Amino acid sequence: MIVAIDGPAAAGKGTLARRISEHLNLAYLDTGLLYRAVGKKVLDAGADPDDAVIAEQVARTLQPGDLQADGLRVDAVGQAASRVSAVAAVRAALLDFQKDFAANPPAGFSGVVLDGRDIGTVVCPAATAKLFITASTEVRAKRRFKELHAADSTVIYARVLEDMKERDARDQSRAVAPLEPAQDAKILDTSALDSEQVFDQALAFIASKSQKA
Ligand code: DC
Repeated sequence: MIVAIDGPAAAGKGTLARRISEHLNLAYLDTGLLYRAVGKKVLDAGADPDDAVIAEQVARTLQPGDLQADGLRVDAVGQAASRVSAVAAVRAALLDFQKDFAANPPAGFSGVVLDGRDIGTVVCPAATAKLFITASTEVRAKRRFKELHAADSTVIYARVLEDMKERDARDQSRAVAPLEPAQDAKILDTSALDSEQVFDQALAFIASKSQKA
């Protein structure tokens, strides 16, 4: 079984993917982490995330250990990830790893769940079930602000909202594998749902798809 979960930042993809992976015994890959690891290495090297040559070089030499680096979740790294992810050669360099994970789940698992931006459209177009998790920009910015503010009280909501809009625009408008729902994805707007409701609806959809498979 392959479950594909896509959607914009802070829509609740990660929480949902983790719960689904535990409930259905699926191995979980957070594909955003791959792009974040590339973005962080580019920043750490003092380079510009828009520099396609450097970003490609980093993506081609990414090591599993890079996914364990500290600080991958900070907002500056999210922005850098969004920038490097617009480079076609970076996406190409990371694609095989993701496809391979989906095709060969680690031993003991019944399948995989991947979350990202292009799982249903590019990485796993034949996935058993595709979900597109979204929420209004304001709701997502408030969720992200709450997380960031808990760790750093100097964080400003207006800035988080601006960053969110900028990242959405870049992820949706890039030429290669832009953020968009696959035609056969179930779109779940989580603006007015709690995580339990999102989980129940997602699970019901996956069950309906796996019965048909
Ligand atoms: O899901 P996230 O916030 O960790 O992702 C960080 C950035 O990585 C996101 O802004 C766009 C990029 N990304 C992508 O282009 N394709 C994916 N499958 C996952 C993430």
